[in-house]
Amino acid sequence: ETTGRSTWKSRTGFILAAIGSAVGLGNIWRFSYLAYENGGGAFLIPYIFALLTAGIPLLILEFGIGHERIGSAPLAFRKIGRRWEWLGWWPLLFTMFGIVLYYSVVIAWCVDFIFYSFNLSWGDDPDKFFFESFLNLSSSPAEIGIIQTPILISLFIVWLVSWGIIVRGVSRGVELANRVFMPLLLLLTLVLVFWSVNLEGAMVGISAYLKPDFTKLGDPNVWISAYGQIFFTLSLGFGIMIAYASYMPYNSNMTGSAVITALANCGFSLLSGFGVFAILGFMSVTQSKPLEEVVTQSIGLAFVAYPKAISLIGDAGPLFGVLFFLSLTVAGVSSAISIVEAFVSGAKDKFGINRKKLATLLCVLGFAGSIIFTTNGGLFWLDIVDHFINNYGLVMAGLLECIVVGWFFRLDIIRKHLNKVSKMQLGVWWNWVIKLCLPLFLTVILLNQLIRELSVAYGGYSWASLIGIGWSWIGITFLVSFIFAVQPWKTDNHLAKGRGE
Ligand code: PHE
Ligand code: NA
Repeated sequence: ETTGRSTWKSRTGFILAAIGSAVGLGNIWRFSYLAYENGGGAFLIPYIFALLTAGIPLLILEFGIGHERIGSAPLAFRKIGRRWEWLGWWPLLFTMFGIVLYYSVVIAWCVDFIFYSFNLSWGDDPDKFFFESFLNLSSSPAEIGIIQTPILISLFIVWLVSWGIIVRGVSRGVELANRVFMPLLLLLTLVLVFWSVNLEGAMVGISAYLKPDFTKLGDPNVWISAYGQIFFTLSLGFGIMIAYASYMPYNSNMTGSAVITALANCGFSLLSGFGVFAILGFMSVTQSKPLEEVVTQSIGLAFVAYPKAISLIGDAGPLFGVLFFLSLTVAGVSSAISIVEAFVSGAKDKFGINRKKLATLLCVLGFAGSIIFTTNGGLFWLDIVDHFINNYGLVMAGLLECIVVGWFFRLDIIRKHLNKVSKMQLGVWWNWVIKLCLPLFLTVILLNQLIRELSVAYGGYSWASLIGIGWSWIGITFLVSFIFAVQPWKTDNHLAKGRGE
C-alpha cells in the first residue's frame, strides 16, 4: 500500500537496527560514569524509573508515529498537521549538524586507539598522551589552532564507511550492517566483561557499582541525570526511531518491538557497567589507590583510565585494547549511520532526491563539519555542543512531540493503530502518560536545568563561547527547520493517509 517506500527485510532486522542506533558510546562510558557518580547501585532506581515512565512510553510513541503516519519525522509531522512540519526537521538538523559531527570524531579517536593499542603508544602517562600529544588541547574554545592529522585520517574512514552503508539503502545497507555489527558487539562485550571481572581486584570495583547509596535518591539532580540519560541512550528526540519505524511493513508488533529495543539497550548498559567497574577495581588494587582516584571525567574514562589499565594487564594488554576500542567503534558507527539515515529519509520524503545523491551530500557535509572537532580547541567545542543538544535539544524535542501529538492531534489514532498491529495492548493510561505525565516531568527537568545554566556558566567557559557555540547551535537549527518546512513539497507523499485512518 505504500508506494516506493524502502522496507526492512524482517522484524528482526528492524529491531537490530533500532538497537544499533540505541546502543552507542553513551552506553559504555556515559552510563557507567553516571552510575558511579550518582550513588552506584542506587542510581539503578531512578534509571529504571525513568526507563518505565519516560523511555518506554516515548519509544512506543515514536515507533507509533513513524509506523502509523508512514513517514520520516518531517513527513509524519506534516501529516499530523501542516504547521508542525518544522518539528520533524528540527531534531534532524541539530543531530545531523550537531551530535553526529562530534560523535564521529569520538569514533575516530577509538579507531586511532585501536592502532595505539598494538604497541601501547601512550607510554607511562596516558593522561599526558591523550590531552597533550593526541588532542594537543588548547586553553579555550576560541583558540582553534590546527587540525590533528591522525584524527582527521580516521575521521575520513568513519565517514567513508558510513557512506558505504547508507548508499546501499535500508535493507541492503543499514539492516545488513546491523545484522553483522550487533552480534559482533555482543560477542566483544561478553569477552571483555568476562575478562575484566576475572582480573585481580575486580570485585572492589563491582561492589562500588552495586553498593547502593540510598541517600543520593533525595537529590533531584540524580533523577534529572537519569531522565537525561534515558533520552540519549534510547535515541529519543532524534527523529531516528520515527524514520526506522516508517520502514516497517504493515503487520508487525510495534509495541513489542519498542519494549524489546528499550530493554536490550538498558540491559547492555548494565552489562558493560560490570566490565567498566571491574577495570576500575583492578586499577585501584594494582596501583593501591582509592577507587575515586582512578576515575576522571567521562571522556577520560575510555581514553585515559582504560589505556592505563591496558598497560597494567601485561602481555595480553594489546589484545584487550584492540577488542575494547573495536567494540566502541562498532557501537559508535551503528549509531552514527542512524542519524544520517534519518536525514536521508526526511529529505527523500519531501524533495524526492535519490538516496545516492543525498547520502553523498550529507556525508561530505558531515565530514567537513566534523573537522572543527579535530582541532586543538575541538574538545571544548565537543563539550559545549554536547551539553546544549543533550540537555535542551533532545528534551525539548521530546516535550514538543508529546504536546503536539497529545493535544493537537487525536493521539488515540496512534494508540488504536498500535493495538491493531501489536500483540501487546496499550491501555488509555498510555495517552495520559504522553499528554500529562511526560510534559510535566520534562518541563520540570528543563526549568531546573535552565536555572542552573543561568546561575553558573557551564564548565567554566566564557559566556561568549556558550552563546556563540551552544545557544546559537540550538537557535540556528531551530530557524532553519522553519526554512525547510516552508519549502514546497516535490513529492506527493504528504497527501497520503495514515494507516489508522
Ligand atoms: N543512543 C546513542 C548512545 O547511547 C546516542 C546516539 C544515537 C548518538 C545516534 C549518536 C547517534 O550512544
Ligand atoms: Na544507548
